[in-house]
Amino acid sequence: MDQHSAIATPPAPTLRLDYRPPAWLVPSMRLDFDLDAAATRVRATLEVEKNLTDGAPRGPLALDGAPGMKPVSVKIDGRLLAEGEWRVEDDQLVIDLVGPKHVVETEVVISPDKNTQLMGLYASGGLLCTQCEAEGFRRITFFPDRPDVLSRYTVKMIADRALYPVLLANGDLVGEGEAEDGRHWAEWRDPFPKPCYLFAMVAGDLKANRDSFTTMSGREVQLGIWVREADLPRTEHAMGALKSSMAWDETVYGREYDLGIFNIVAVADFNFGAMENKGLNVFNSRYILADPETATDADYDAIAGVVAHEYFHNWSGNRVTCRDWFQLSLKEGFTVFRDQEFSADQGSRAVKRIEDVRVLRAAQFPEDGGPLAHPIRPDSYLEISNFYTATVYNKGAEVIRMLHTMLGADGFRRGTDLYFERHDGTAATCEDFVRAMEDANGADLADFRRWYSQAGTPRVRAALSHEPGTARARLTLEQTVPPTPGQDDKQPMPLPLRLALFGAKSGKPIVPERIHVLHDASAEILFEGVDEQPVLSINRGFSAPVIVETNRSSADLAFLSGHDDDPFARFEAMQQLMIDTLVAAIEGRAFDEEAVIEAVRNTLTDKALDAAFIGEAVLLPSEAFLGDQLAVIDPSAIRKARSHLRQRLGRELEAEWRAAYAACAGNRFEYTPSAKGLRRLRTVALGYLDDGGAADAAKLALAQFEGADNMTDRQGALSTLANGTAPERETALAAFYDRYKGDALVLDKWFTTQAISMRDDTAEAVEKLAQHPDFTLANPNRMRALVGAFAANQFAFHVADGRGYRFVADMILKADRLNPQSAARLVPPLGRWRRFEPRRAALMKAELERIVATPGLSKDVFEQASKSLA
Ligand code: TRP
Ligand code: ZN
Repeated sequence: MDQHSAIATPPAPTLRLDYRPPAWLVPSMRLDFDLDAAATRVRATLEVEKNLTDGAPRGPLALDGAPGMKPVSVKIDGRLLAEGEWRVEDDQLVIDLVGPKHVVETEVVISPDKNTQLMGLYASGGLLCTQCEAEGFRRITFFPDRPDVLSRYTVKMIADRALYPVLLANGDLVGEGEAEDGRHWAEWRDPFPKPCYLFAMVAGDLKANRDSFTTMSGREVQLGIWVREADLPRTEHAMGALKSSMAWDETVYGREYDLGIFNIVAVADFNFGAMENKGLNVFNSRYILADPETATDADYDAIAGVVAHEYFHNWSGNRVTCRDWFQLSLKEGFTVFRDQEFSADQGSRAVKRIEDVRVLRAAQFPEDGGPLAHPIRPDSYLEISNFYTATVYNKGAEVIRMLHTMLGADGFRRGTDLYFERHDGTAATCEDFVRAMEDANGADLADFRRWYSQAGTPRVRAALSHEPGTARARLTLEQTVPPTPGQDDKQPMPLPLRLALFGAKSGKPIVPERIHVLHDASAEILFEGVDEQPVLSINRGFSAPVIVETNRSSADLAFLSGHDDDPFARFEAMQQLMIDTLVAAIEGRAFDEEAVIEAVRNTLTDKALDAAFIGEAVLLPSEAFLGDQLAVIDPSAIRKARSHLRQRLGRELEAEWRAAYAACAGNRFEYTPSAKGLRRLRTVALGYLDDGGAADAAKLALAQFEGADNMTDRQGALSTLANGTAPERETALAAFYDRYKGDALVLDKWFTTQAISMRDDTAEAVEKLAQHPDFTLANPNRMRALVGAFAANQFAFHVADGRGYRFVADMILKADRLNPQSAARLVPPLGRWRRFEPRRAALMKAELERIVATPGLSKDVFEQASKSLA
């Protein structure tokens, strides 16, 4: 199903401007499921009515279905139709209806245990569960599968009691009982009209961690996190995060939960992180299960972030949903911004911002600068699943953050209040969101809308000059927005730049922070009373998602890395200093490693800084990020320069690393910001000692590995060993495997640790791991753990003979036959071929051509691969 010959019949794109309201509405519906893994019978009873709103087309009722799906029976108003009274055209069930209102009943039989795409109803580890966003509902039953058709659902499930003792769906449980032959049933009703992508149902042998939350108006909500019994002890952290999220949304946004029940189910096979189905979130188990023995601090943080994200969707996504899929960032960008701020409020705001910007630069900037660049509100797609991107999510969140910055917290809140009030219960657009912000604040956001329509990362040139005689400083700003596919000419973007000036001598702030919104292609700002040499601090807190180039010297950057009063700007200055040094080295220009070594020494020994911040600030930019700074990427030259600097830092600051390592040891496991920071710095110090060539590094690492009381320390030690050749490496990898081979989530870490190794033979090692009995492409987590992680390992993936490219292309083609959505997510690393030196570029391009020429390719992979070649 869903396969076609890609080149013979290129599929037609869906265009944003082609939006028309639906011809028919479905105000209420009933679903009856007779559940069985091999053959599930689905009876859908839809109350349909003609849509009388302006612009709605007239025409027959057309219900979306999956390719190859055929109804067993179709009834209209209780009358069974003859075969000629309906037709299936372009995967739609088409029925000519005469009146304005009818009851349409269809029956289909589907096979969850043959569903390897993990869209619609599928089996996972003995459970039956659903995933409907974006267009999975049509694989369950015939329905207008578009987010602007909202219905009230009643859902009855019947299933074998022994296999499926728990039956869950959206909303409230309204009845349950016994049925014949050891079967039982449950009926659920969701009082809130919702689009079908928010439908969910789960059946299985699950146990709940139960708790409750009392909302701000005093209603009690029953909370349940449903997992296999053995996993119950690993649900406490997620439950805590859920309750914190519920309280946070009340305090910060005034948003209260609206049903009596909120359930979460964890499943092992899942295409994404999690899904915000109304009252029944379904999660990838990696974003629920945690205990100190099996989850790292990063896992704990991610769990809290994703639990919050899905919970926040109850308002930003569910109560107000999207009119069409081009508006995806309306819910995703906003909700990512909400979860980022939630996490910032739970721990270190500065470190959270550093992490979020790192993700943006690692995942979104390359996308924005490559063949798959698209605005946060795209204009066209072949397959909507390909647009769940870092651009829509993470750049989308930055766009919302800029509104927050420009309007202030209070103004932003007035805007969201108005947005929720105006659009509650409806399907809205990005334009609706911007207009609510404008109307609530009397603001003019005309040029701000370009953030929704223009792709590409703006580049800002900032030059500060000082005129000592007049005590004046002059800042000139210039912006350019690069051309992207289909968008040759760009308008300037409004860029809110937080900036300040510091005295180079005194170290004091001389111009306090202000926000300058750069609306035009260029601007000049004059500062008065600048009576000493000033140093520019710009885009503080990363107030705009742009690339900034300045005329600051190494000395300026070193100064800011030690003295800026914005922690993010301090981090940023250090990064820029490192980048300038490494790029000069890579390009064969003169460079000065001493400035970096001194700046790292100062940060490492600054008693006023916390360990978590230090652990981030002393890291060199990744090889991939360095590649992004270069016109032509040569992974070998990058590896050489970066390793050289890491070795020097390790060697020359050996005493400082040892001191940091010792100071962080003896930290017993606690999930607190300070304990997390100590663990972070400890492993960073270990890595530097190892790269610096300390004779005892492998011994230290093995001791840390064996003595760890938590996964963060254990995996940190394992990663350090995995980068090297010491005999301790194999000891630790074997011990880790033996200890965790029964735990899929931890085994994923074992695969990833080897896939991201800095060793020269990583590509060969990964090819071998793909033959390991525990490797499978059927589980998206496992596939990403090995293949996804490897493709992000710049040096290894781009090994000069091209074997890395061939391996990933082979995996894409194999995975595509099982799960096109997940397979397509492996294409972008190959799609960056134009950025690499000619030999590698040719090898990458050849693999893309091989993919596109493969018969029977999915629409998902075809879109990504063909656009990458265009
Ligand atoms: N809406 C989900 C989220 O943001 C994303 C998601 C979950 C998804 N499963 C999916 C998107 C499957 C596409 C396909 O959290
Ligand atoms: Zn989301």
